[in-house]
Amino acid sequence: MHAINSKMLNQIIYIYLISSLSAVCYCLENGLARTPPMGWLSWERFRCNTDCTNDPYNCISERLFQVMADLLVSEGYASAGYEYVNIDDCWLEKHRGPAGQLLSDHKRFPNGMKALSDYIHARGLKFGIYEDYGNYTCAGYPGIIGYEESDAHQFAAWNVDYVKLDGCYAQPYDMDRGYSEFGRYLNSTGKPMVYSCSWPVYQIYAGIQPNFSAIQSHCNLWRNYDDIQDSWASVENIIDYYGNNQDIIAPNAGPGHWNDPDMLIIGNFGLSYEQAKTQFAVWAILAAPLLMSVDLRTIRPEFKDILLNRKIIAVDQDPLGIQGRRIYKHKGIEIWSKPISPVYQIYYSYAIAFINRRTDGTPSDISVTLKELGLINSSGYRVEDLYENVDYGILYPHTKIKVKVNPSGVVMLKAETQYLKNV
Ligand code: GLA
Repeated sequence: MHAINSKMLNQIIYIYLISSLSAVCYCLENGLARTPPMGWLSWERFRCNTDCTNDPYNCISERLFQVMADLLVSEGYASAGYEYVNIDDCWLEKHRGPAGQLLSDHKRFPNGMKALSDYIHARGLKFGIYEDYGNYTCAGYPGIIGYEESDAHQFAAWNVDYVKLDGCYAQPYDMDRGYSEFGRYLNSTGKPMVYSCSWPVYQIYAGIQPNFSAIQSHCNLWRNYDDIQDSWASVENIIDYYGNNQDIIAPNAGPGHWNDPDMLIIGNFGLSYEQAKTQFAVWAILAAPLLMSVDLRTIRPEFKDILLNRKIIAVDQDPLGIQGRRIYKHKGIEIWSKPISPVYQIYYSYAIAFINRRTDGTPSDISVTLKELGLINSSGYRVEDLYENVDYGILYPHTKIKVKVNPSGVVMLKAETQYLKNV
């Protein structure tokens, strides 16, 4: 029998440390998405329109992505932070090539994916692609299963910056293994790629409780809930899901890993101006990825202004990366709050969204003290309205603020914590 001397003990501790360090290194650790990704994604607006013969301007084709890339730059979206141009489903041929490789549709992407990637990069933007963990994508194109490693290398060779991996035609109970494995394959290529997962949503639908600590260590963002549709009802449904389940969902967000309530539908057919402002405000409070899915050729100026509201973008992109919460809900009135920087001692600054879900035709007054909102720094807060550009000056915890919120609309304030008592 061997006695364990201190040298051996040190060796054992060393081996233990090395193995636990290498365990940590199996996680994503790609250093990306320190703030929620921003860009443009084709799905909600352009779906699986493959009919380039009859609808050449709207079909999923290289031309569509080139045009959107050009407009992101020329219309000022890129300088506001929207940097990813992301392809969704329906870019593939229905069958893989003879060597098992993924092939883009040769008619709709005649120059291939690398040429499109180069086009997008030449404009200072980043390139995102879509695939599916299962046998097929949701629209029935080849999935990655059985080709995980070679597909990851294919994406790297195309200089892809962002991969959305969907979960149709896959086994939800196999996703803990499969999604993390594909993340490791992406990492092993050496090409940094944001990894967007649909891992939790498919598990939730299958009655499986997702392992969010595993998900947040392997994915940069993930879908929790239903696909967004072009309607206020759909936006409300998502808002309710994130509010009702916030205790489980919100703590999983932070720099490098985000909940994804799905695309922004602002500027399409289904939302009024007020409702579009509400979607943008709530997505910013949720620290959501800001992925526009809209026709940038025809978007009306008032909707464009919402998407380019830099003060609200800054709330979404706040470096603390704290997902906000619904802090009040009663008779159709909701208040959502997100801690943001700067922070003074224990006092955060906040973005506050007052939402009116009532439809009785007249704006509703909401009146509340800062203290009731949890703002208790006696040095006060500089309060401004982020849509109306009104500066309320320095307000104190006992100050009552009164806002008038339009039906299905929002008032969004920022309260910046003060350092010194202002007398
Ligand atoms: C799923 C996803 C959508 C979209 C479609 C494409 O429904 O949730 O976001 O990618 O597949 O087929």
